[in-house]
Amino acid sequence: MTKIAVWCRHQGDNIIGIGPNIPWRISSDFRRFRRITEERTLIAGQTTYESFPNRTLPNRKIMVLTFDADYQLSDTTNHQVITDIRYFKDAEGEFYISGGASIYKAFLTGGSKLQPEIIVDSMYRGALNPDLKGQPVDITPCIDVMNKDYRQISKDYELDDVLTTVRVRKGAFVDQAVLKHIIESIEAED
Ligand SMILES: NC(=O)c1ccc[n+]([C@@H]2O[C@H](COP(=O)([O-])OP(=O)(O)OC[C@H]3O[C@@H](n4cnc5c(N)ncnc54)[C@H](OP(=O)(O)O)[C@@H]3O)[C@@H](O)[C@H]2O)c1
Repeated sequence: MTKIAVWCRHQGDNIIGIGPNIPWRISSDFRRFRRITEERTLIAGQTTYESFPNRTLPNRKIMVLTFDADYQLSDTTNHQVITDIRYFKDAEGEFYISGGASIYKAFLTGGSKLQPEIIVDSMYRGALNPDLKGQPVDITPCIDVMNKDYRQISKDYELDDVLTTVRVRKGAFVDQAVLKHIIESIEAED
C-alpha cells in the first residue's frame, strides 16, 4: 500500500482553509492536483467532501471519512464511507490523502502505519483572500512532523507563486512507480 498526502498550505502560518473554503484560487495548483489524482483513489474528510462541486470529483474514487455510518454519498458506485481510519493501516492500494486538516493530522500523527510514505507539499506565497469569513484552519502539526520525519527528494518546482516539493518518509519503502507518476504529473506543467 502507498499513501500520499497532497496539500497546498500558506507560507508562514500553514493555513489551508478559512471556514470551509480554500483562501486562494490558483488554477495551475488545481490542475496539478487533478493530474496527480485522476483515475486514482482519494481520502477526504466529510467537510472537504461536502466542499467538492456536487460532492464529487470526476474520474476519481473517493473514500469519505466520517463517524456517521449512515452518511449519504452523492455517488454510491465510486464513493465509499469509512468510519474507522484504522482501515488504512492494512488496506491494499494507492491512496491520496486530500484533507482537510483533521484528516491530514490523523494520518501524519497517527503512527507509522498511518503516516503517508510520500508528501506532495505545495506552499502558496501570495496573499489570502481577505473577503472569506470563518475560522482559519492550519496544519502546523503536520508540517512539524514533515520537517522531522521526511526528506525532500525532488527539486523545487515554482509556478504561479506556489512552491512544490516532494518528500518521502525516512526509512520507508517507496513505490518507485508511484513516485514517477507524481513527479511526471508535477513536471507536466512546470
Ligand atoms: N489547501 C488544501 O490543500 C486543502 C485541502 C483540503 C481541504 N482544505 C480545507 O480544509 C478545511 C476543512 O478541514 P476540516 O479539518 O475542518 O474538515 P475535514 O478534515 O475535511 O472533515 C472533518 C470531518 O471528517 C470526519 N473525520 C475526521 N476525523 C475522522 C476520523 N478519524 N475517523 C472518521 N471520520 C473522521 C468527521 O466527519 P463527521 O462530522 O461527519 O463525523 C469530521 O467532522 C476547509 O477549509 C477546506 O477548504 C484545504
